[in-house]
Amino acid sequence: MKRKFLFLLGLFLLMVTLNLTARSTLFTLITDMFNQVSLKPQERGSMGTFPIGTVSVDGRVNEDPADRFSWMEQEIIEETATKNPNAPVPESLANGKLKFDTYCLVCHGDTDAINKAGFAATKINDLGMIAPAVISLTPFFTDGYIFHKAKYGGAVMPALGYATTATDRWDIVNYIRTLEKTP
Ligand code: HEC
Repeated sequence: MKRKFLFLLGLFLLMVTLNLTARSTLFTLITDMFNQVSLKPQERGSMGTFPIGTVSVDGRVNEDPADRFSWMEQEIIEETATKNPNAPVPESLANGKLKFDTYCLVCHGDTDAINKAGFAATKINDLGMIAPAVISLTPFFTDGYIFHKAKYGGAVMPALGYATTATDRWDIVNYIRTLEKTP
């Protein structure tokens, strides 16, 4: 047993010393593919320039060095600073309640308690997330921020901009403001 091992070890060392492995056709075929200089299409250096916004496979984001976020910030600031153009008249509140109950209630509830039951069967709940009791947060937010949140959603919250009109969202804000007063 020990002899056999020593023999194999000796043979292996001999092969390495004489570089026999590199000369074997089969081995060369296999290793050549790895040893040669090659760049995969998504590796840095394989192309002159990467399109802005892509990520190379070695993990580099190819950003626009001059400007990355200002356009986004600008949009967010504009929308979150917008004054609510809809007065909280009864029609606005009625539409706000209808749309809030349709699109927001299931996750957020309309009290300051977290709505665990309504939320139970949603995908977000499967991920172990809880939607905040929204009216305990909204007093700290501007009308525009809530409008913006309803439109674009969040990291977890779905974007509801496609389902609601701008008027709907302003009406939702008006309705939320009344909920805040009567939790
Ligand atoms: C599918 C569940 C779900 C629905 C429907 C939903 N939300 Fe949310 N919402 C969340 C979750 C989860 C969070 C916290 C994580 C996040 O921001 O993504 C959240 C956060 C918020 C916040 C807090 C924002 C912040 O920045 O802290 C506001 C305001 C809000 N939602 C408003 C609304 C309004 C208005 C609607 C209806 C148009 C709505 N949500 C519909 C799940 C939901």
